[in-house]
Parts: sequence; structure tokens; C-alpha cells
Amino acid sequence: MRKGYCHEHCRNSRKPSEGEQRSHYRAFPCRRRAPRAKTRTFVLNDLSYRGCQACYACKNSADACVINDDLAPVLDAVRDADVVVLATPVYFGDITAQLKTFFDRSFSFFTPDYRISNTPSRLAPGKKLVFVQTQGQPDGSFFDDIYPRYDRFLKRFGFGETHLIRGVGLSAPDDAARNDKLLEETDLTAARVLSGE
Ligand SMILES: Cc1cc2nc3c(=O)[nH]c(=O)nc-3n(C[C@H](O)[C@H](O)[C@H](O)COP(=O)(O)O)c2cc1C
Repeated sequence: MRKGYCHEHCRNSRKPSEGEQRSHYRAFPCRRRAPRAKTRTFVLNDLSYRGCQACYACKNSADACVINDDLAPVLDAVRDADVVVLATPVYFGDITAQLKTFFDRSFSFFTPDYRISNTPSRLAPGKKLVFVQTQGQPDGSFFDDIYPRYDRFLKRFGFGETHLIRGVGLSAPDDAARNDKLLEETDLTAARVLSGE
């Protein structure tokens, strides 16, 4: 693995003040690292970016999204990455608005003939993806529809291997860090991704 990156990954351990978004992702400390892996982390909540404007420039005149804002380097990094990690809490039964807007802008990864093409993606095939989803609801049968819905699109983008890590019943910021089963599952997933199993 040469490069990978996370969305909404915050290493900040200070207590957030009112009005600041606290980090759910710091609860998943990376205990396993690939030697020589170059990683980039983007905290979507810290970026300023617009939703897809449906201008279709990425289908008519350009091979990438033409909106030049803070999300542009994130989309570029996904093109470069071998492994992508997306992380989100469940808000109102779905991913956060910040991550949904990233998905909308990733429309630019589709080729102009994506509707009929067998190779609809501009991304190199075979990238790996890990999707980290946390929720307050302890019953995992709630919100188990979220990942499959987005995974369908990720597969169309050419991600060959996708993994889901779900944290349920998480409320306090350190709930995940104190959940040994969840940390083991995270380590196991990291090992599988890095070893290519
Ligand atoms: C605006 C908002 C909406 C939420 N909606 C849900 C929900 O629909 N279902 C659920 O299980 N938890 C919900 N939660 C709880 C979070 O998913 C949960 O605490 C998560 O593990 C940590 O999120 P955090 O990064 O906001 O701390 C919600 C929290 C917030 C702040």
C-alpha cells in the first residue's frame, strides 16, 4: 500500500466547545500501520465546499470536477490512493451531510458514458475501501441499510474490495476506544487490507 486516507478523521483529543463537531473517529485509534504507507487525512467538517451543481462539466468538457474549493484536493487524493477510509456517524438514519456532499461530488469519477459502459469509472480499478460507521442505537439491525446503499456506488467506481466496520451503542467520544471487541475488529480489518487477504 502506498497511499491511503481517511475522511472525517480527527486526532484532536481535546473536548470540543459548544457548536464544534466532536470527533467520532478519534475513537478508532489506528493500532496497525503499513510500513512505508503514505497516509493523508482530511477532516471534511473542517473544509469549505459546495455540493454538486449538476453543471455536467465533468461529463462534457472536463475529466474531473471543475468546482475549485476545499474538496478538490480530497477528490484528487482518492484518485491517487490505493486504500480509502471513509468514516461517519449515523445522523438521522444516514451518513452525515458532509460525507453525502463528498459522494455527490464524486459523481465526477464517472465517465461520460457511465450509464451504459462496462467501465463506468475514471478511477483505477482495484482500490480498497474501508467504511467506518458509528451510531448511538445499540441494535445493529437499525441502520444496516446505509452501507449497502453506498457500497453499490463504490463498486461502480471500481473499488475491488470494500470492508465495513460498525460501532453501535456509541455515545460518549471515548466509547469506541473502550470497546475491545470493536478495536479487535478494526485491527483485523486493517490486517486484511494490508496483507491483501
Ligand atoms: C444530529 C445527530 C443525529 C443523530 N442521529 C442518530 C440516528 O439517527 N441514529 C443513531 O443511532 N444515532 C444517532 N446519533 C448519534 C450518533 O450517531 C452517535 O453518537 C455516534 O456514534 C457518534 O457521533 P458523533 O461523531 O456526532 O459524536 C445522532 C447524533 C447527532 C448529533
